[in-house]
Amino acid sequence: MKEIVVSGIRPTGHLHLGNYFGAVQNFGLMQDEYDCFFFIADWHSLTTHPRPENIQGNAHTILAEYLACGIDPDKAVIYIQSDVPEITELYLYLNMLAQLGELERVASFKDKVRLHPDNVNVGLLTYPTLMAADVLIHKATKVPVGKDQEQNMEMIRRYARHFNHLYNVDLFPEPESFHPEGPMRKVPGLNGSGKMGKSEGNAIYLSDDEKTIRKKVMKAVTDAGPTIPNSPKPEPIANLFALMELVSDPSTLDYFDNLYKCCEIRYGDMKKQLTDDINRFCTPIRERIHHILADIPYLKGVAKRGAEHARQSAIGTLNEVRQTIGFPCR
Ligand code: TRP
Repeated sequence: MKEIVVSGIRPTGHLHLGNYFGAVQNFGLMQDEYDCFFFIADWHSLTTHPRPENIQGNAHTILAEYLACGIDPDKAVIYIQSDVPEITELYLYLNMLAQLGELERVASFKDKVRLHPDNVNVGLLTYPTLMAADVLIHKATKVPVGKDQEQNMEMIRRYARHFNHLYNVDLFPEPESFHPEGPMRKVPGLNGSGKMGKSEGNAIYLSDDEKTIRKKVMKAVTDAGPTIPNSPKPEPIANLFALMELVSDPSTLDYFDNLYKCCEIRYGDMKKQLTDDINRFCTPIRERIHHILADIPYLKGVAKRGAEHARQSAIGTLNEVRQTIGFPCR
C-alpha cells in the first residue's frame, strides 16, 4: 500500500515563489508516488481572517494556482477543507484530548497573541487540533511541511498516540514531517534578510505580472558592491544569488558569481537578468492560472470531485473513531 500524504494551505493570499520552491514544486512528484491529499484550509484561515470578503473565491484562486503548478486532480485528491464536514467531528473528539496548557504554549499561538491581542479566539488556540484532524482523518503518515510547523506536527503525533492509548486501539499512525529530497528549499525575500513570505511583504507571487515582477526585483536591497576580491557575500547579495540559483541557468549564475569575485559585478545587470529569468519561469504558470480561473465551472467540478474522494476517506476513518468511542457507525 502507498503511504498517505496530507498537505494544506490557508487561502489568505496567493502562492508565491517561496511556497513553490518550498513545497508545491514537489507535489507534482509526490502525487506519482503516494496517495496524496492536498487541500485548502479555509476553516483555518478564519482563525486570523474572521470576515473574509470572498472565502469561496479565495479558495478557487489557490485551487487554480495549485493546478497551474502541476497538481493533477486525476492523481491527487485536491479539495477544500470546508467541503469535508467529517473533519469537524474529528476536531471535536481531538479537542477532548487536547490540553489547554499545552495549546497555550504553542509558539505560533503566543506570537499571534502578541501581535493581535484584540483577537485571541479559541479557534486560534485550537489551530493545532484542527490541523491534527486534517491529517489524522486520512491516517496520513507523511506531511510535507517546513520547520515552522514542527511544533504542530509533534502535537499531531501526541494526539494520535493519546487516542490509541486511551481507547487501546491502533487506529492512527503517527505522521512524520516530510522533506522530499533533503530539506525543503528556503527561498529568501528581496528585502535583504529573511525568507520570502506573504506576511513579510517581500514575496513574488506566481500571479504577479511581468511589470510587477520587474519592479519588485529592481527594488531588491543591494549594497555598494565588493571591493576586495573573493569576499563573502553579505545577506542581501547572497539572497539575490539564491533566487538566481532557483530560476536561472547554472551558467548565468556562474557568470555573475565570477563578476562578484573579481569585484566587477553590476547589480543593475544582475537584477535585469534575474527579472528576465523569474519572468521566464513565472509566465507559463501565470498563463495557466488565468486560463484555469476563467473556467469557474471546471474549478467547481474539480473541488466537487476532490471533496467526494476526501469524504470517502474521511467517513471511513470517522466511522472507526465513532465505533471506538462507542457511537454507532454512520
Ligand atoms: N498550518 C499549515 C500552515 O500554516 C496549514 C495547514 C493546515 C496544514 N492544516 C494542515 C498543513 C494539515 C499540513 C497538513 O502552513
